[in-house]
Amino acid sequence: MLFLSIARSHGVVQIVSDPQRTPDSYKDAESLRSEYVVKIIGRVSQRPPESLNLKIPTGEVEIYADKIEVLNGVSKQLPFVISSTELDSVREEVRLKYRYLDLRRDRMTKNLQLRHQVVKAIRHFLEDEQNFIEVETPILTRSTPEGARDYLVPSRVNPGEWYALPQSPQLFKQLLMVSGCDRYYQIARCFRDEDLRADRQPEFTQLDMEMSFLSQDEILELNEALIAHILKTVKNIEISRPLPRLTYAESMARYGCDRPDTRFGLELVDVSEIVKTSGFKVFSGAIESGGIVKVLPIPNGNEAISNVRIKSKGDLFEEACKVGAKGIAYIRVREGNEFDTIGAIKDNLTDEQKQQLIEKTGAKPGHLLLFGAGDIDTVNKSLSRLRLIVGEELKLIDPNQINLLWVTDFPMFEWNADEKRLEAIHHPFTAPNPEDLNDLKTARAQAYDMIYNGVEIGGGSLRIYQREIQEKVFATIGLSMKEAYSKFGFLLEAFEYGTPPHGGIAYGLDRLVMLLAGEESIRDVIAFPKTQQASCLLTDAPSQVEEKQLKELHVKSTYKPKL
Ligand code: AMO
Repeated sequence: MLFLSIARSHGVVQIVSDPQRTPDSYKDAESLRSEYVVKIIGRVSQRPPESLNLKIPTGEVEIYADKIEVLNGVSKQLPFVISSTELDSVREEVRLKYRYLDLRRDRMTKNLQLRHQVVKAIRHFLEDEQNFIEVETPILTRSTPEGARDYLVPSRVNPGEWYALPQSPQLFKQLLMVSGCDRYYQIARCFRDEDLRADRQPEFTQLDMEMSFLSQDEILELNEALIAHILKTVKNIEISRPLPRLTYAESMARYGCDRPDTRFGLELVDVSEIVKTSGFKVFSGAIESGGIVKVLPIPNGNEAISNVRIKSKGDLFEEACKVGAKGIAYIRVREGNEFDTIGAIKDNLTDEQKQQLIEKTGAKPGHLLLFGAGDIDTVNKSLSRLRLIVGEELKLIDPNQINLLWVTDFPMFEWNADEKRLEAIHHPFTAPNPEDLNDLKTARAQAYDMIYNGVEIGGGSLRIYQREIQEKVFATIGLSMKEAYSKFGFLLEAFEYGTPPHGGIAYGLDRLVMLLAGEESIRDVIAFPKTQQASCLLTDAPSQVEEKQLKELHVKSTYKPKL
């Protein structure tokens, strides 16, 4: 008897051929090999009780093959075993080169199907329940102000001029609001030439939305209903609403970052007030020069984390240094609240300061207190990095838990040290909080991000729709009205013709699906992704083109290959 598994994208079924019951197909069955494409005519029959496979939907039946016809064989050796379920059992370069085979693998097929289900749920909710319409916006367009580098396309018919591929449909969706389309969405392809990471691709997909006449609360509420609908439909998970909201300031204070993973505690504590007068120069010096001292308190950290790891060359030390810290000071809290540490900290804290530290950080015997001292940015970056590493290592994160929240009230601007000017954190069309109009430089924005287990899955804002405020924002980022008009004149002009108050949001669809699929890289939920070097190993893009093509485009390469 021969047993074969026949697989299609929607499942697998067992085929049986034996010399007695199906003599005609037996010889053909013997010649079949992995991944052959076959046509089988046969009878579906109930499997005998001892060979039932209740783990798969077709496990109660098998097909006795009367006739087997090979439609197409496999003439080359397969680069990897298709049936392996562990994605990393095959090198990623090989998977990407033979992506069409990789996509035959069960896990990848499921990821694509999940992606499809998510998009379907989105379309249903937005179109059928909320009256949104999908509108396509141009791919060949002008530069959009999302802050990454543009992909440029030379124009043949307009010599010397270039299109930019959209970093997002931002300007067009705002124009759609001016045009009276109250509720727009699009499953939109975006292009950003930026450094790539596991959750970034040069070309990625957004669920992009824009709405007129809704307040920020109404937008957040609608989006909570949307995300709840997606989770219910594709995962059968109910989430409780309203989602928690953290202001940017609170998020930075408690977690040291603007996209906190709130599935575990280990919250940071600002102890600047306590240690500012201490004799320990690293602390008092940091505060004197306008910085901060914060603590990451780790319950039972004394047992889990050795001194070697925190001291020079230790792994945690190195992690903190990667983001600019000069080191990590620490205190181990022992029985009777005795402190144990090295160097100058212990001798330079008074009993009162020690007591205050214990109270403020909630430390108990066994606690390890890791200190960050320096400028606010570096302290937050290093401690939030350590928080994640320690949280994972101490298994404080439940991988099955989903924590969604909003971070709101981002600052409007941040200082760009290279260009020595303020720049918009979200983009220059984001509306400032009306309470902060007197000092725009430090104003809070009416902007919000949705965070899913520490990953920013979406971000948006209310937009400026009044010319005077828009002009002030341009002035704050050092853009003269002349420059602003040359870049965005079409939008500013449109705003003169009656613009409703509007706002929107865009989600990283790939990121959302990655999280729902439990994958660690967005490449695993994109059919044909690019590598970290922004290339496609399957088609070998990008590639050279013929001199003739460049000439037609009025383009000359200045690149000189290294010999
Ligand atoms: P933003 O730039 O925050 O906002 O992008 C929205 C969401 O898109 C995802 N994302 C990415 N995903 C994969 N690869 C990338 N390179 C990449 N870059 C961003 C993130 C992010 O939250 N026009 C505004 C939205 C608005 O204001 O309405 C925008 O594009 O999940």
